[in-house]
Amino acid sequence: MWFDACARDLPWRHTRDPYAIWVSEAMLQQTRAAVVVEYYRRFIEEFPDLPSLARASEDAVLAAWSGLGYYRRARSLHESARAVMAEYQGRVPSTAAELSRLPGVGVYTAAAVASIAFGERIAAVDGNVERVLTRYLGHEPVPGAARSGQLRLDAMRLVDPKRPGDFNQAMMELGATVCLPKVPMCLRCPVHAGCRTRGAHPAAPARRMLSRKISLALVQRKDWPKSELLLELRPPDAPQMPGMWELPEVKQGREISDSQLLTIRHSITNTNYYVTVYGLHASDHKGLVPAAGERKWVPLVELHNRPLTGLARKILKRLKVMPGYSGAGPSIMIGDVVRDAEKEFESAIFGN
Ligand code: ADE
Repeated sequence: MWFDACARDLPWRHTRDPYAIWVSEAMLQQTRAAVVVEYYRRFIEEFPDLPSLARASEDAVLAAWSGLGYYRRARSLHESARAVMAEYQGRVPSTAAELSRLPGVGVYTAAAVASIAFGERIAAVDGNVERVLTRYLGHEPVPGAARSGQLRLDAMRLVDPKRPGDFNQAMMELGATVCLPKVPMCLRCPVHAGCRTRGAHPAAPARRMLSRKISLALVQRKDWPKSELLLELRPPDAPQMPGMWELPEVKQGREISDSQLLTIRHSITNTNYYVTVYGLHASDHKGLVPAAGERKWVPLVELHNRPLTGLARKILKRLKVMPGYSGAGPSIMIGDVVRDAEKEFESAIFGN
C-alpha cells in the first residue's frame, strides 16, 4: 500500500493509545502536521495520559496549546477528558457514535479516533480528504459545507474494511502531500489511473483575506529582583481567545516612532493582522487603550506558564523577552522585518 511506503513519519503514527491519537486529531484540525509535531510532543510529555489532562488546570492546558490557535479545541479536549473520567471510568469510548457525544468532538474527530485507535469501519473526511475525493470522483468543486454529506457517503463506500484507520490517514496524506490545492502532483499519485480529473481541475475559490493594522505595547518594569511585563487578560466573554493573555494596545495617535521595536504579520482565520510593537515606559500608560479585562504585571520567568495568545507568544519570542525563537535571527534585523511587513500591508490595502 502506498501509505506504508510513503507516509510521513509522524509521532502519533507510532502509538495505539486512543488518548494520544485523540490529542493529535484535536491538534490537526485546521493545522498542518509539520506545525503540530512539536506541540504534540510537548503536550504528551506534560499530560502523558487522560487522568493527567483531566487533573490539569485550564490555564496549564491553554499554556501548552499557546501558539496553535483555535483555543476552543483545547478547552473542549480538556472538558472531554474530565467527562471521560467521570462517565467512562477514564477509558476513551471506542465508537464514533459515543465519541461524538463528548464536548467539542465533531463528526470528523470522532471518526478519525474511532478508526485509527479502535479500527471502526468509518470514513473520516476533513477538508483535505474532501478535495481528494472531489477530484478523484470528478465532482464540481463547491466551497463550504454544501457537498460534505455526499462526500462522506462516497468515502464510506471506499473505506478499506481491513484497515479503516490507515485508509483514512492515507487519504489525509494524499491531500497533504500529493493532491495539493493549487498544483496537484499527479505523477506521484497512487490512484492517478482511476482519477476522473487528473489535475485538470480548478481548485475551489480561495477565501478572501481581510487586513487590519494594530499597535501593541511592550511595557516592562524592574521590580527588583524581578523584571515584569504588562499583560492583559481577554475577558471571559470575548468571542475569540477568552481567558488568554496578550499585550496591551496602543491608542491611535499615541505611537512613538522612536520606540518602534518590530512589525510583523499574523494571520487569524480570514484576517491578516499587521502588528507594530512599541516599547513603552511604564509611566506611559495613558497611551494605552483602556483594558477590557484584567491588566497585570507578570514576572518574565512566569511567561511560559501563562496561556498567552499565539500573537503575544510570537512577539515575545521574537523580541527575545521569552526564550525559544529560532526564526528571523538577532533583533538587529528588526529594521528589515519592519520594512517588509509595511510594504506587504500597503500592497494588501492598496493593491500595489
Ligand atoms: N490530519 C488529520 N489527521 C491526520 C493524521 N492522522 N495524520 C496526518 N495528518 C492529519
